[in-house]
Order: sequence, then C-alpha cells, then structure tokens
Amino acid sequence: MNTAILGATRGIGRELARAMAARGDRLFLLGRDEVDLAASARDLEARAGLPAGSVGAARCDLLEPETFAPALDAAVAALGRLEAVVVTAGLFATQEALEADRELARRVLEADFSGTVLFCEAARERLLTRQGGGTLCVFSSVAGERGRKPVVLYGAAKAGLTRYLEGLDHRFHARGLRVVCIKPGFVRTSMTEGLPEPPFAADPEQIVPAVLRGIDRATPVVYAPGIWRWIMTVIRALPRFVMRRVGF
Ligand SMILES: NC(=O)c1ccc[n+]([C@@H]2O[C@H](COP(=O)([O-])OP(=O)(O)OC[C@H]3O[C@@H](n4cnc5c(N)ncnc54)[C@H](OP(=O)(O)O)[C@@H]3O)[C@@H](O)[C@H]2O)c1
Repeated sequence: MNTAILGATRGIGRELARAMAARGDRLFLLGRDEVDLAASARDLEARAGLPAGSVGAARCDLLEPETFAPALDAAVAALGRLEAVVVTAGLFATQEALEADRELARRVLEADFSGTVLFCEAARERLLTRQGGGTLCVFSSVAGERGRKPVVLYGAAKAGLTRYLEGLDHRFHARGLRVVCIKPGFVRTSMTEGLPEPPFAADPEQIVPAVLRGIDRATPVVYAPGIWRWIMTVIRALPRFVMRRVGF
C-alpha cells in the first residue's frame, strides 16, 4: 500500500512504519524535523532491505497548516498513487502542566484538534479528488471517550477529533474514503514516559498488528489493545456523580 505517514519519527508511528515497510508497503514520511525524518527514512530502508533513497520525506508540522499541502503533494509525487494517509503525530501534556501553561495548552489543542483536522482535510481532498478514494487512518485516543479529571484538555481535543472522523466517514464513505479512527489505551512511548502506568499498558509492537488489521479491513473504529473497547463501554456508562468522585 502506498502510504504517507505523519509521525513515524517516534513511538507508535515509528513501530507502525517499520511493520509496514517490512511487509512491502511503500512509505513516504511526513514530520516536523528534517534531520529526524531523514534518519527515520534511512532506518526503514535498512530494516526492509530497500535501496538508499527509496523512502522519501517532507517537512510537515501540525502547528503550521501552510506545510500540509506541499508535504502531501510531495508524497503524491513520490509515490505516484497515494492509497493511504496515516496520522500518528500528536502532542500530550499532563492536565496540571496544561493548566499551568496556557501557551502549551494552545499548542496541544491546536496540534491534536484543529491542526490534525485541517491536515485530514488536505489529505481527504487528495485521496478523493486525485486518487478516487483511499484510507485515512488517524490516531485519536480513549481519552476522548468521556470528560475525565486527568485529561480534561487533551481529552477534549481527542473527543473533537473522534467526532470529526466519524462525520468524515459518514460524509465520504460512498465516494470511496475509508476512515479508520484508532483509539489506543495507555502505550509505553516517549509520550507517556514518567506517567503512572494503568492496568493493560502495552508496548507499541503489541498494538501495531491491530492497527494494521484496521487499516487493511478499513475498520472505522479500532481500540488498541482491544480490551479498551470493553473498559470504555463501562466508563461511558458510569453516572456523572461517580465520575466526579473517582480520580481516573
Ligand atoms: N502513547 C499513548 O499512551 C497514547 C494513548 C492514546 C493515544 N495516543 C495517540 O497516539 C498517537 C501516537 O502517540 P505516541 O505515544 O506514539 O507519541 P510520541 O512517541 O510522543 O510520538 C509523537 C509523534 O508525533 C510527532 N509530532 C508531535 N508534534 C508534532 C507536530 N506539531 N507536527 C508534526 N508531528 C508532530 C512527533 O514528532 P517529533 O519526533 O518531531 O517530535 C512524533 O513522531 C498520538 O496521536 C497520541 O495522542 C497515544
């Protein structure tokens, strides 16, 4: 599958890109740091036994919407036909840090909601208008399922993103757009370093197979690991007075 991936320099995105390259997908990397992008591209080529230069890259920053169109156009030019766009990029900070720093809060809200949505709009346009369909796989979070004390702001951004992806699926499915919304639980990456681990914490390589299955089957919503589907079913059913008392 010819895929542009935003966020493959670290964490879940890096692991996903490695698995995709290993199975023969053609990748084009998008990200905010050109040195990191080049290093990630060379790493993928070495691991997949590809000739140097076969994984291309272009600069794309979720906080700089003017980078979206040129980056996606570079992906189309390099891959020929763009079959999938994957967004694993995202920004996290604890609720305490976000309450203490309004500028950090602005950046997290922008990167995880408006920036990601505008990037998806640019990707959707190219997948539909120029390619006649394709898959748009975006990482939201279980944090967007319910208003919760430790993730009020980050969770709100992910809730908005989840609803946007749902609407996009309803609006463009008949025209060939396959929207895949990934909702990870707690995954051990640089994003969660130093945070207390809840039960069912996973490593990126444990969730990548479910993400790949979701992309291949065009599953609209994927919980990863799958146990989070059932955990969130319970949490969604909890009455407000319980949510006010509990700390999670
Ligand atoms: N880890 C978890 O427990 C967890 C749980 C639920 C949902 N998620 C979501 O899953 C996705 C992947 O998370 P992760 O744990 O793999 O995070 P991560 O290890 O922190 O990696 C984040 C990625 O996003 C990129 N990024 C950050 N800000 C960016 C910006 N302004 N423009 C472009 N790229 C940017 C980073 O690029 P640089 O290398 O340049 O910094 C990096 O490649 C995120 O959307 C996250 O919200 C994660």
